Amino acid sequence: MKNISTSRDFALSLDAADPLAHFHTEFESPDPALCYMDGNSLGRLPRRTAARLHQTIKDEWGQSLIRGWNQGWYTAPARIGDKIGKLLGADAGQVIVSDSTSVNLYKLVHAALQINPERRNIVTDNLNFPSDIYILQGIAASHTPPLEIRVFDAQSLIETELQSEEQPSALPSALSALIDEQTALVTLSHVAFKSGYLYDMAEITRQAHAKGALVLWDLSHSAGVIPIELDAWEVDFAIGCTYKYLNGGPGSPAFLYVNRRLQEQTCSPIWGWFGQNQPFDFELEYTPAPGIARFLAGTPPILSLAGVETGVEIVLEAGITAIRQKSVALTEYFLCLAEQTLTGQGFTPGSPRNPARRGSHISLRHPAGYRINRALIENMNVLPDFRAPDTIRFGLAPLYTRFLDVWETIQRLQRVMNEARWQTYSETRASVT
Ligand SMILES: Cc1ncc(COP(=O)(O)O)c(C=O)c1O
Repeated sequence: MKNISTSRDFALSLDAADPLAHFHTEFESPDPALCYMDGNSLGRLPRRTAARLHQTIKDEWGQSLIRGWNQGWYTAPARIGDKIGKLLGADAGQVIVSDSTSVNLYKLVHAALQINPERRNIVTDNLNFPSDIYILQGIAASHTPPLEIRVFDAQSLIETELQSEEQPSALPSALSALIDEQTALVTLSHVAFKSGYLYDMAEITRQAHAKGALVLWDLSHSAGVIPIELDAWEVDFAIGCTYKYLNGGPGSPAFLYVNRRLQEQTCSPIWGWFGQNQPFDFELEYTPAPGIARFLAGTPPILSLAGVETGVEIVLEAGITAIRQKSVALTEYFLCLAEQTLTGQGFTPGSPRNPARRGSHISLRHPAGYRINRALIENMNVLPDFRAPDTIRFGLAPLYTRFLDVWETIQRLQRVMNEARWQTYSETRASVT
């Protein structure tokens, strides 16, 4: 962003020129002074979701009762999956909503290993979400002999690249060196949960395929905020959550994508009745349903699905291109303000300087990060989050984060530092940080 000013009026002028500004009123914001900086963990409540949930409870559950299953409930996982697919560049019939991200990862890693049964290793990296690594470890340990999990040290590489605006990333080629003819699967987070590093999905997918490996992307931090072309990039598998930029609500069910060309070659390791060909025939033998439905397991959570559907519809209305444009502008503005006002306060950058390589949150690292984060929350009415050992994350969700919120956040962070307010907060961490 060229010629940015640190004035409040400049922030207001950016908001006045923002084509997505009107989406702010789509979301509940009962405290206008709150700077909500955690849409990358839990999206705000869309107003229409509150109305839709009320309708689902009162009219559908309350009046339709069991008839609801034939009036849209049974088809909800696939219907909403197709809507999410539109955001991911996936044609209909390849995305379905079910379970949690962790469970979907378990299902799809098994599916990948069924297709590549002779190969003995899985490649991932140390930017990936720990739950993803745990699941890989558990699956590896269940094989005899155990599969090898190769954890690429991407963190060291990105640390040398964080400051660079121009330098092409050395990551894809360094990662590629770890993939060999024994690699069954390469699985990574598209946007890393801590740094916000954004992988070149098309390039990594190409490199993995060149060596006969399958790829599985975790889209939790990119779905709804980064343009993605799963079909065009020939991605094999993907998973992701719906409670961040898709605004589905706390613990809302996750989604999974299986490329059509693979669907009939494999199936879920959990042979539940919702993934059966004809569940209401009540046969005692399992036959997988055709297509993506075979990756369902049990009864879908209808109330939670209602929130996912409205959340996704708002994202579709805004359009992913406009959302990405605003996301880049917000993160750029945040970084420029931070660079101009926080130097000498002990922060180091935790997110890439190159906008093409970063998602929609900005991380600042500080040895007293936890205490600074507490001061922001408890004393300054700013809500970011903290990731151990030293990272404060500021999530900039383009549908409701205003440039003025960014300006306010930096102002308040400056006060926390200049007035040493963080020093009154303890290092003892709450259960959820
Ligand atoms: C990148 C990523 N993957 C996986 C998960 C785990 O998701 P879930 O708790 O829905 O299984 C999270 C949770 O925040 C995440 O950020």
